[in-house]
Amino acid sequence: MLVSAKEMLQKAKSGKYAVGQFNINNLEWTKAVLLTAEELRSPVILGVSEGAGKYMCGFNTVADMVKAMMKTLNITVPVALHLDHGTYEGAYKAMDAGFSSVMFDGSHYGIEENVEKTTDVIREAHSRGISVEAEVGAIGGEEDGVIGGGEVADPDECKRIADLGVDMLAAGIGNIHGKYPANWAGLRFDVLDAIQQKTGEMPLVLHGGTGIPADMIRKAISLGVSKINVNTECQLAFQEATRKYIEEGKDLIGKGFDPRKLLAPGVEAIKATVKEKMELFGSVGKAE
Ligand code: 13P
Repeated sequence: MLVSAKEMLQKAKSGKYAVGQFNINNLEWTKAVLLTAEELRSPVILGVSEGAGKYMCGFNTVADMVKAMMKTLNITVPVALHLDHGTYEGAYKAMDAGFSSVMFDGSHYGIEENVEKTTDVIREAHSRGISVEAEVGAIGGEEDGVIGGGEVADPDECKRIADLGVDMLAAGIGNIHGKYPANWAGLRFDVLDAIQQKTGEMPLVLHGGTGIPADMIRKAISLGVSKINVNTECQLAFQEATRKYIEEGKDLIGKGFDPRKLLAPGVEAIKATVKEKMELFGSVGKAE
């Protein structure tokens, strides 16, 4: 059964660890993340962007696939199915389809409109037991065609949005989606600390988890980050393993062309990446 992300993130915040959100793209991806979470007894959040939702034939298909897979694989750790960077309309569609958590990303609106729309999404989501993530200060980089400028959030605006009753809050602190450029200045821990001081117990979300060095991740967790999103790193691991399989000519040997064989190294690579992140985030063994 899917659960809201609220309780798992409150536990993470008080236990000083973070739960990973791993974005899924297809059946193989979903299976790899769920099996790793179960093996490591870790809570987990499956992230689905609007683009990935479309690719997988809509939110209904995704929700039904995840629920059926959890039943068949006997997944017993807490799993939240979460809309990543949702539009206002997308958040309602995901809720109707059975998602247990939604992000409404109103960071590109002015603060007043962000407050208004976020309030509306919270009212609806909470009446259905669904958790809500909001965002202040656009996360930089490109994700599914949405380009964010890499803003640094204003701690007072963060407090305003947090006080609306969101369950988790994403704030731009110099993080970006995708690979970090060589001249990246790093995370703004001063801003993160100021946000935490103002928002207290609110679990904070770090987007753009790919490529952030381990020491920065640990420091971010110590300053109140309880959810870390990882997408590109799993894609790169999958790509590298698949490339190796083909470059070694394995697809040409015997039944090596069978998709179940062709995609297997990529799946193993996703599992290894998810395991590494769960160990770094400190969520291993926290399912109970
Ligand atoms: P990366 O692709 O940089 O890991 O970012 C993932 C993310 O923040 C999803 O919202």
